[in-house]
Amino acid sequence: MFTAQRLDATQAVRRKKVQELVDYVHESCRSGSVVDIGQAAFTTIMNSVSNTLFSIDLAHYQSDLSQNFNKLVYVVMEESGKPNIADYFPFLQSFDPQGIRKRITTNIEKLLNIFDGIIDERILTREKTMSKESKDLLDSLLNLADQENSSQLSLTNIKHLLLDLFVAGIDTTSSTIEWAMAELLHNPEKLTKAQTELRQVLVKDGLVQEFDIAKLPYLQAIMKETLRLHPPGPFLIPHKAETEVEMCSYVVPKSAQVLVNVWAMGRDSSVWQNPTSFMPERFLESEIDVKGRDFELIPFGAGRRICPGLPLAQRMVHLMLASLLYTFDWKLAHDLKPEDMDMTEKFGFTLHKSEPLLAIPIKV
Ligand code: HEM
Repeated sequence: MFTAQRLDATQAVRRKKVQELVDYVHESCRSGSVVDIGQAAFTTIMNSVSNTLFSIDLAHYQSDLSQNFNKLVYVVMEESGKPNIADYFPFLQSFDPQGIRKRITTNIEKLLNIFDGIIDERILTREKTMSKESKDLLDSLLNLADQENSSQLSLTNIKHLLLDLFVAGIDTTSSTIEWAMAELLHNPEKLTKAQTELRQVLVKDGLVQEFDIAKLPYLQAIMKETLRLHPPGPFLIPHKAETEVEMCSYVVPKSAQVLVNVWAMGRDSSVWQNPTSFMPERFLESEIDVKGRDFELIPFGAGRRICPGLPLAQRMVHLMLASLLYTFDWKLAHDLKPEDMDMTEKFGFTLHKSEPLLAIPIKV
């Protein structure tokens, strides 16, 4: 699903979904209404991912289903990120003293029910049409499960795999777009610089394509700088030590849970100059990338557990940001001044903006 070849083959789907986002923002321009950037990005990414996985749109802008799905994913992420006393005193696990496990389970069950419906419907269609064509990931997985020698892959596995991809991919990517837009509106001179690059480099047909990304170094630097300051997974996903290891004279015992604080690493003043300032320029002259080879910047993790969705996330973030910045000018809602923006973060499993970014698009 995430190889360059496969992603090239599915780029038309993402292009279509980003065009729908642009159409929605055009409509907001005409009516002079405010756009909730995080929510709009969430809907676009959810539909890009759901079309890649099972060829349907799961949401529409401002629809209840989109908001509901958003809420379900959000609660799972928020609750998973809360310090849970039962993690420190395992004998408390069955009592679930803070109710965290119960709230996560309830919401995950609701999400799994949605996937159950989609899988059941697909199985029925395949039976009716007697077709085993592999149009998307769900078809490929069902074909795999049908093969006699791969009976280890059950429908429950498929359901959970789909859930994993959704939960891990949508909130992280939309939060990156919201933060990038927030930092640009907070630093108007960087916003102008990004728009100048886009409008100089791209041909004037109003359509940004994934292959344009390579020609946009400042846009790429914006994504890196956003992930340095606001990594959506501030502690990655918990890891476990396979053996006892000694690091910097600390002993990490076998089986200890290890949280990697990439949020603090991104703000370490011994590594970064002016660490709390948003300065994409720092990456223009530097080879540092987010692909897990430069340990000062690992918002996707590194090594064997690195985020498998990295190639897709990079394409989606760049494409959506480029489209929003190329097609529109932006100002903050309610006549808010850039210096008065609330840039505080809210820690959950993913790092969110405390206050949603509300902005007014202006047609260029
Ligand atoms: C800007 C966007 C994203 C960021 C910053 C991000 C970050 C991460 C991080 C930090 C991890 C854990 C790595 C570790 O434990 O060392 C992870 C795992 C993962 N990510 Fe992403 N991710 C993003 C987008 C995506 C997308 C678009 C998908 C797929 C649709 C995806 C799918 C996954 C999956 C399946 C895992 C593994 C979960 C597991 O271990 O069970 N991610 N991601």
